[in-house]
Amino acid sequence: TTPLLIDSFGRVARDLRVSLTEKCSLRCTYCMPEEGLPAIPDDRRMTADEVVRLVALAHRKLGVHEVRFTGGEPLMRADLEQIIAGTRAECPDLPIALTSNGVGLEHRVGRLVDAGLDRINISLDTVNRAEFAELTRRDRLPSVLRGVRAAVAAGLSPAKVNAVPMRATLHGAPDLLEWALAEGVQLRFIEEMPLDADNTWSRVEMVTAQEVLDSLSTRFELEPAGRDDPSAPAELWEVVGHTRPDGSPATVGVIATVTRNFCAACDRTRLTAEGTVRSCLFSDDETDVLGVLRSGASSEEVAEVWRGAMWGKQAGHGIGGTAFHRPRRSMGAIGG
Ligand code: GTP
Ligand code: 5AD
Ligand code: SF4
Repeated sequence: TTPLLIDSFGRVARDLRVSLTEKCSLRCTYCMPEEGLPAIPDDRRMTADEVVRLVALAHRKLGVHEVRFTGGEPLMRADLEQIIAGTRAECPDLPIALTSNGVGLEHRVGRLVDAGLDRINISLDTVNRAEFAELTRRDRLPSVLRGVRAAVAAGLSPAKVNAVPMRATLHGAPDLLEWALAEGVQLRFIEEMPLDADNTWSRVEMVTAQEVLDSLSTRFELEPAGRDDPSAPAELWEVVGHTRPDGSPATVGVIATVTRNFCAACDRTRLTAEGTVRSCLFSDDETDVLGVLRSGASSEEVAEVWRGAMWGKQAGHGIGGTAFHRPRRSMGAIGG
């Protein structure tokens, strides 16, 4: 058997995303229902120690070379610092990233960096307070803005901000970019995928990457700047005349998940908060590795189950195609 996480199409998964919780401090309409996601019983959620063991195993035995903690909202876990510190202790060379909504981040980012956090992506769709409250169903914009500033001050660079543009917020895209340039963060717009809990996504309503670029071009001059690497989901554009704090050219990204999907270059493997492997955002097949770990199996046995789970990874999400079906779990339960 190959030691790597390889699928039947020859893709190799090296980027591990771990959802730590189903809980969230916001309720973004494209991600979660108003009442939040069904609670996972405490004894079924991975403990900090189990997370660290599975990440270390993926790094040592399966060729994973980056881990990202996501949610739900990872800050909802009081032991996030412990999870990061444990991962850092077990895997000194593994880059550790976090995807967070930024609420309350200002109070913890210093400790997260001390624990070993390397990079952060913060989700923020608008800098208009009323629109933020409408979209997330919570009036927490000021806390998020302070969180972004604290992340930059803590040395997380380049801090990235992810925005999912919606019809109602598209007009604010140039304002959001202006804010991001002033804060020294890299802004990326992500096309909305059919992963909302309320099943309201429609291809016609979806704001495309091209529409975002058109909107930004009303205020900024953009020049194509390629991708960071071939499997990076974001296409970058240089914002002419603007620089980052280190003097390099400022860029803005578009992640065209639907109109120019990047499934053929996908290098991701995912763990849900309950310790099941998901080979694709859009696959309903989940393979329980936490149960195998808890049964006392050797790390090689756990690794073998994980490899098996990835071998069956589907070719792509197929959004827009006739065979497409929405996954049972919404985004908040899988983790971006
Ligand atoms: P870095 O470049 O390492 O910072 O991470 P990234 O570009 O993968 O960023 P991030 O994790 O913030 O992902 C950005 C967005 O891309 C996510 O929020 C998702 O909406 C989308 N995305 C991430 N992974 C996948 C994937 O496997 N498939 C699809 N279709 N979309 C994804
Ligand atoms: N489509 C695209 N991106 C989404 N995210 C959440 N739901 C969706 C969706 N339906 C993004 C969030 C965050 C990351 C975790 O995933 O904005 O940046
Ligand atoms: Fe929470 Fe993130 Fe989902 Fe918004 S996108 S509800 S912040 S998990």
